[in-house]
Amino acid sequence: MTRVLITSALPYINGVKHLGNLAGSMMPADVFARYKRARGIETLYICATDEHGTPAELAAAAAGQNVATFCTEQHRIQYDLGRRYGLSWDHFGRSSSSQNRALTQRFAQTLWERGFIEERVTKQVYSLSDKRFLPDRYVVGTCPQCGYDAARGDQCDNCTRQLDPVDLISPRSSVSGSTEIEIRDAKHLFLKQTAFAPRLQEIINGKKGEWPVLVTSIAQKWLDEGLQDRGITRDLAWGVPVNAADWGPNPQGVRPDVKGLEGKVFYVWFDAPIEYIAATWEWADAKAPGGKAVDSDWERWWRGPESSDVTYVEFMGKDNVPFHTVGFPCTLIGVNETQDANGTWRPADNAPWKLVDTLKGFNWLDYYGGRFSTTHKRGIFMDTALELLPADYWRWWLTANTPESSDATFTWEQFQAQVNADLADVLGNFVNRILKFTETRFDGLVPEGGEDGPTEIKLAADVTEKLTELTAMLDAAEMRKACQALRQLWVLGNQYLTEAAPWTAVKTDRDRAAVAVRTGLNLVALFAKVSEPFIPFAAEVIAGGVGELVPGTWPTAETALKLLPIGRPVKAPEVLFRKVEDAQVAAWIERFGGASSAGA
Ligand code: 2FM
Ligand code: ZN
Repeated sequence: MTRVLITSALPYINGVKHLGNLAGSMMPADVFARYKRARGIETLYICATDEHGTPAELAAAAAGQNVATFCTEQHRIQYDLGRRYGLSWDHFGRSSSSQNRALTQRFAQTLWERGFIEERVTKQVYSLSDKRFLPDRYVVGTCPQCGYDAARGDQCDNCTRQLDPVDLISPRSSVSGSTEIEIRDAKHLFLKQTAFAPRLQEIINGKKGEWPVLVTSIAQKWLDEGLQDRGITRDLAWGVPVNAADWGPNPQGVRPDVKGLEGKVFYVWFDAPIEYIAATWEWADAKAPGGKAVDSDWERWWRGPESSDVTYVEFMGKDNVPFHTVGFPCTLIGVNETQDANGTWRPADNAPWKLVDTLKGFNWLDYYGGRFSTTHKRGIFMDTALELLPADYWRWWLTANTPESSDATFTWEQFQAQVNADLADVLGNFVNRILKFTETRFDGLVPEGGEDGPTEIKLAADVTEKLTELTAMLDAAEMRKACQALRQLWVLGNQYLTEAAPWTAVKTDRDRAAVAVRTGLNLVALFAKVSEPFIPFAAEVIAGGVGELVPGTWPTAETALKLLPIGRPVKAPEVLFRKVEDAQVAAWIERFGGASSAGA
């Protein structure tokens, strides 16, 4: 059986994430991971905080904290929040870990030795008032591509283009707001991405039709525009140091000329994806006796023949796609392979690092048609959302509205309508009705007696159809369609009960009523099982109502309606889902802004 390695884009450390971040990476990754585990498949779901770069430094400065202390606190906050949402990471690491530092330096050294990194003297933005270089987000200005006036030095939030700080029109410092800026020369390391273009094209060609069109088209656009060599170092104090002395033994005697590179660090986008691997190393260390794993414990997921049974699936928002279809693959190909004099790529390592097998990229989740924004504090954030409602309400709505084929929009009105209909009216109502009835009329036990009739035979066929659909959609990580199929399964439960009407049958034909109750209870068990990846907290309560269910097994057409033994005691849970009231919605619109806030 194959193993599944799952990563979701590493959230920046710069503050609590909004629901848009959750919807477009961590939530679908979690549903997928839970589904794989529910099938009994060995699964590793890795995430971490992205702690380097200007977002971290700027946020720490705004909080008046030392950046290391800030990161430690914020990591804890993001970790706790993720757990409260039921995010089932096997490890939630930190890109500032010693493991990531070691691996980043090791990869850089190999790339250097293979000739894929070179030194260049470049033009950098320097602030006379701040007396420092202003890399990436330390400088803001007008986007030369779309004219957005708050574009950041590294990327325009409006058109998602990657930028170079020197390209910004009317640049100003994010530190002081000063416009006293000049362009100065500085030495930096460059990853020669241009060399990798044909190899990347080969990979993308192979993924067309398999990966979402969104992903292959973003990657293709990058390739069509022509890859640029990429500066992978920065003039910052916080990050993985580019200190040649840290690059380990260097028998070839080749390494960058350290003069002019002192005090620099690797660019955050160079070390962040490497953290996917390093966080797996952290995971292995964390569970090893003495805190030190042997390499094979974590490398078996990532490199060489030992990882040949691993399928690697990445989840991320569309803005991250270029870094994962171009930047990170260049690093890994450059570490795995060399190019001979004829330009042919040859394996250079008998334990090559794994490249992504499936890349799931998502569009944006908007808030009333405008962007959620951490920087501008627009929309609902993970911490606040949990003050309003339990995690499963958010999990369900976000998964059912995953921005897969286009951008999606959150509105309180639509949120209320959907969670009330799906969770309270359909699922909650069904579970409650059948369990209460069993308690009052069948002593709270799965009854024996009677035989399946045409209603049950029809139900079994309908359940099989929807279960097959749900399973196929989960296999494909098509979250919206998976939610549709699951909702339709829940609806079958209510339809069945209405038709079989055990409350009427029990007056004249106890065996008929027993069949209906037994079937209804099996549906409850089935719903607990197949809803778990989506709404794990409620699923646990539902499962508790019908007793233990065998873990690591996914229902099939044969087992779907035979999950409970005769005589098993059952119990109705407390109200599963309270309805979201109009008054609550009105208060939340008042507090967070509604339709009138669009475009604010
Ligand atoms: O866009 C972001 O939020 C980045 N922190 C994602 C990093 S993903 C990975 F490469 F680390
Ligand atoms: Zn732009």
